[in-house]
Amino acid sequence: MSSPADMLTLRVTRHDKIADGIHLFEFRAPDNGPLPDFTAGAHIAITLPNGLIRKYSLCNDPAERDRYQIAVKREPNNRGGSVTMIDDIKVGDTLPVASPVNDFGLPPRATDFLFIAGGIGITPMMAMIRQVQAAGKRFRLFYCSRSPETTAFRDILAAPELKDFVTIHYDGGDPSHSLDLKPILAERQNREHLYCCGPRPLMEAVRAMTDHWSPTAVHFEAFSEAETHKASDKPFKVRLARSGDVIDVPTSKTILEALREHGLEVPSSCETGTCGTCRTKLLAGVPDHRDLVLAEHEKADTIMICVSRAQTDEITIDR
Ligand code: FES
Repeated sequence: MSSPADMLTLRVTRHDKIADGIHLFEFRAPDNGPLPDFTAGAHIAITLPNGLIRKYSLCNDPAERDRYQIAVKREPNNRGGSVTMIDDIKVGDTLPVASPVNDFGLPPRATDFLFIAGGIGITPMMAMIRQVQAAGKRFRLFYCSRSPETTAFRDILAAPELKDFVTIHYDGGDPSHSLDLKPILAERQNREHLYCCGPRPLMEAVRAMTDHWSPTAVHFEAFSEAETHKASDKPFKVRLARSGDVIDVPTSKTILEALREHGLEVPSSCETGTCGTCRTKLLAGVPDHRDLVLAEHEKADTIMICVSRAQTDEITIDR
């Protein structure tokens, strides 16, 4: 789990469109001095002028000490963070930014990496490939995108030192033309660590095809918790086995939120069902798993309470 972030005030020094609907932002200290360092996979949390706080993966080289770069995809249907960033934030603005936190870091002793990115999920991978290459390690990157026009960082990935390790797959927006992941994931080559970031269906497909990989070698990062909510969600009850308390979980809340409102201290980190911190023993009832952490054989008696819900009216957990 990462440590809490310090708050910084940073100046926007670059805001450029780098692909259709995707904009690159650069932040520096007002005195251009060094910033808190970061490792590949880290994100910063930006407080927008309208009060929204949004997390964005850093995409520049972690060796750079004087700037943070992020790429933002304009998502008009989401809750407004990306639209505010792209439409309202200008070069010269200053914004409160929490220093980098990393829930998606690379294990220092691993030597081989398989990166699978979908769309704007490429952002953490851009920092990762730079860190991996600087350390003399190896990677393969598969980058799924709709078309060349919507593909950020195409020019960088075509550089001579990178292009042999990069496959960009265009599906034209047609799921039937998606990248065939089966041959890529059939075997874990050279004890690779797999990192996947992209739309939920891509991550779910990768999760389903890696049950035979070591769970510690497969890592996901989700864009937002909102992707796990469904219109068909129903309220249910959670029984706490140790106290006997029964807690209501309405459709508007996760189990984690309901437990905290009940006064329980519950550890969490990503709150998107990807890091494993909130793993909880399930004692009774039928869960509705929505995480990307659990292997098939774990699903009968374990639940990730930051995203998963219940199929039955009540579940019992070991708390
Ligand atoms: Fe990360 Fe629940 S807090 S999986």
